[in-house]
Amino acid sequence: MSEFQLYADAFTEADRGDLVGFSCGESKSGKFCTEWIMGSGAFDSMNRGSSVWLYRIETGQVVGYGSVGLVNWRWPMPDGKYTRLLYIPMLGIDQKFQGQPPDPDWRYSRQIMQHLVTNAIRMNGERKKPAEYLLLLVDPTNEAAIRLYQRFEFQLIPDVTYGAGLSVMKHRLAK
Ligand SMILES: CC(C)(COP(=O)(O)OP(=O)(O)OC[C@H]1O[C@@H](n2cnc3c(N)ncnc32)[C@H](O)[C@@H]1OP(=O)(O)O)[C@@H](O)C(=O)NCCC(=O)NCCS
Repeated sequence: MSEFQLYADAFTEADRGDLVGFSCGESKSGKFCTEWIMGSGAFDSMNRGSSVWLYRIETGQVVGYGSVGLVNWRWPMPDGKYTRLLYIPMLGIDQKFQGQPPDPDWRYSRQIMQHLVTNAIRMNGERKKPAEYLLLLVDPTNEAAIRLYQRFEFQLIPDVTYGAGLSVMKHRLAK
């Protein structure tokens, strides 16, 4: 197995010590993502039914985290009925590991997205009424994130923003 293989573990309180020094960087999105996993954001989201994973390399070092959860948003946006939807609340990679490794087949960002989308499909399959789309919010200036999501067939929903000007992206799960 490659030294770049990531291993996913459900995030628990006991992992806090392994996050000392974890930082997604100084950009607005980077700071927000660091605070989410270091502060109460992740546990608040888990209390609302989300799954949160830490991703480590073989040595145990934490490379990043990701999450999949459910949310009540209007669907279709912006004027539809409130609907329980599947979404990716947050993901982040420690700045040391962003853009790494150079080999795109092992790129951490892609391993994490693959794991999140696979789990979203599994969770959707367990629902009585599967969701048509997996959703996420992204800062429209966060070019690396948007490019990553587009690679996983997320599309920006035109003319829709959420909260403080966040763009919404959707990935088709089922017809
Ligand atoms: C978003 C994030 C998870 C992406 O991980 P990453 O390791 O930086 O991603 P990659 O290096 O694989 O970059 C993704 C793509 O964007 C491109 N890219 C990277 N930086 C870029 C930039 N500044 N402008 C344009 N494209 C950029 C890469 O070349 C890559 O394109 P490719 O798939 O064609 O090779 C990571 O940057 C991160 O944690 N950022 C801070 C937190 C964050 O923004 N989280 C997401 C929203 S909350």
